[in-house]
Amino acid sequence: MNIFTDEILEHNIHKWSGTMNNKTWTLFCGDAVDSLRNIPDESVHCIVTSPPYYSLRDYGVDGQIGLEDTVNEYVQSLCRVMDQLYRVLRKDGVLFLNLGDTYYSGKGASHGKDSKSNKRRFGLRPVDKSGGLGENLERKSIIGIPWRVAIEMTSRRWVLRSPIIWHREKALPEAVRDRPRRSYEYIFMFAKDRKYYFNRQPLIDKQIDEDVWTITPRPSGTELQTAPYPDELVSRCLDIGCPENGVVLDPFSGSGTTMQVALKTGRSAIGIDISETFCRYILEHLEG
Ligand SMILES: C[S@@+](CC[C@H](N)C(=O)[O-])C[C@H]1O[C@@H](n2cnc3c(N)ncnc32)[C@H](O)[C@@H]1O
Repeated sequence: MNIFTDEILEHNIHKWSGTMNNKTWTLFCGDAVDSLRNIPDESVHCIVTSPPYYSLRDYGVDGQIGLEDTVNEYVQSLCRVMDQLYRVLRKDGVLFLNLGDTYYSGKGASHGKDSKSNKRRFGLRPVDKSGGLGENLERKSIIGIPWRVAIEMTSRRWVLRSPIIWHREKALPEAVRDRPRRSYEYIFMFAKDRKYYFNRQPLIDKQIDEDVWTITPRPSGTELQTAPYPDELVSRCLDIGCPENGVVLDPFSGSGTTMQVALKTGRSAIGIDISETFCRYILEHLEG
């Protein structure tokens, strides 16, 4: 790998860029909204991303998304990123957004507020706190996170073209006894305009259900706790939603799956992640 720039930008964002397979890549280590401000308008062909799911993980970084006290705060944090993505996506571009849902448990009392950061966790996940997450949710109710985000995005000009079901074949079964175990997540396909790049042929060639994608998740317990999605999920999105040689962006890169698949398939890649540990991991693996 040839790192030809290594800069520190405003808001302490670390930016690296280089080439792999003759394609350029850029990695920003910093908050997604701040980092996206460094990307020009309408310069990206396709976005494939999986943001932090609500109340699932603590990435241990100030400014992380996912641990907001209410559902609405989470939706708004995510949609601030989506607004920037709308700006950087080309008019004929496509966004694939993978999101899973969360149950409201409400089983424990809140330990109070942290004066330094209201996003910091105190051992109790937001979904375990009493109070209904600002929505008066009853305990044990699924929150409907993916659709709440998708509907908010449609009110911010995004065109929701297809809710694709990712059937997570052979996923570890949930430990529940009083409801069916979940075996799918959503991949929402969004466009900006009524006309955009779409190639149906790969779906026809593979003879698969067009909007139910059966893909085995990556085994858990890999070196990094980023909840990486499988390469196959990204390559399907790129096959249908990104022209050859296109520019691919992932504002929540984690271990860098989107960047790797984009570069391997002859596209340029832009990645962003707030975690320095994950950014270092991406850099090492781009090298490999
Ligand atoms: C679900 S993981 C992405 C996993 C990724 N698709 C992969 O294959 O490894 C979500 C990522 O979002 C990052 N993140 C959380 N808050 C962020 C923020 N405000 N700005 C940028 N990245 C953020 C986390 O560090 C984490 O790596």
